[in-house]
Amino acid sequence: MSLENQPHQNSTATSLNLTQRPRRLRRNETIRRMVRENVLTVDDLIYPMFVMEGENQKVEIPSMPGCYRFSLDLLLKEIAEIASLGIPAIALFPVISESKKDDTGSESYNPNGLVQQTVKAIKQNTPDILVITDVALDPFTSHGHDGVVDENGVILNDPTVEVLVKMSLSQAAAGADMVAPSDMMDGRIGAIRQALDAAGFIDTKILAYSAKYASAYYGPFRDALDSAPKFGDKKTYQMDPGNAKEAIKEVSLDIAEGADIVMVKPALAYLDVIRQVKDYSSVPVAAYNVSGEYAMIKAAAANGWIDEKKVILETLLSMKRAGADLILTYFAKEVALMLHK
Ligand code: PBG
Repeated sequence: MSLENQPHQNSTATSLNLTQRPRRLRRNETIRRMVRENVLTVDDLIYPMFVMEGENQKVEIPSMPGCYRFSLDLLLKEIAEIASLGIPAIALFPVISESKKDDTGSESYNPNGLVQQTVKAIKQNTPDILVITDVALDPFTSHGHDGVVDENGVILNDPTVEVLVKMSLSQAAAGADMVAPSDMMDGRIGAIRQALDAAGFIDTKILAYSAKYASAYYGPFRDALDSAPKFGDKKTYQMDPGNAKEAIKEVSLDIAEGADIVMVKPALAYLDVIRQVKDYSSVPVAAYNVSGEYAMIKAAAANGWIDEKKVILETLLSMKRAGADLILTYFAKEVALMLHK
């Protein structure tokens, strides 16, 4: 008999008469493992990755240590490694040179554009990894907004959706498994679904950035893409951080319009929204552990102020517990390596 099963030394005179002692189920790792309610697995992870033009390029992003812009040749090698670690999916973001940007983001639907070429190459090289492409204009517009802008600086909804539809079709034609509109224009999910179906892409999935907030946590990502808006902010299309009910409204519209998966973004400051969306949603829920959340952990760890690995796992687990079925995270590779140990 192990020590734990022995009658407790002082279980007579001084013990309380309790019917429940929750600590019984915390006594050792075996029982803790058995009763654990939520776990993080490699299957939950989606790895956002940055592709740039050129060859033999691997450039670290200063505000996101450990994250790189890769040229296609090196990206393919990295993705082969990601796939071998069991990470099921990547989300692709392009770094577009200034000379290819214009007011309406027309490079976004160039059939031979950087994203389209990259998707084709990935699907040839590592066919089993699921490729998610971002649908939004900001990497492609000279002004850095996610939409078409009029002479007064107003972001125009319906003309933007027209471009998003073209962009989605060209990504699907290149072989993208899932398109992910991150632009927050109204009605884009329905328009994209109809256009994909009409073109025969009935199996191309849609991951909708449904509740995407106008957040200060995107700063490092905009450094990575060189895509910070040149004027104003994104508050007329991204959600106000004070709102939670509105997230349900956005999610319900996107599901009605044909979203296969809905997303809450950012994750850490919006765990309550993830929970509310999970309780409401009939489709799987993704959470985006965004660039600023990544940078904060990396910065504290670099200073020796926190135990990086433990904090990463605890943070991602909090998103699972809040209700996320999937997590987009720049920690995906590190986490896969940790979980395989
Ligand atoms: C743009 C887009 C952004 C992110 C993903 N897609 C930034 C923004 O809306 O300005 C942010 C991701 C991150 O911060 O990790 N459509």
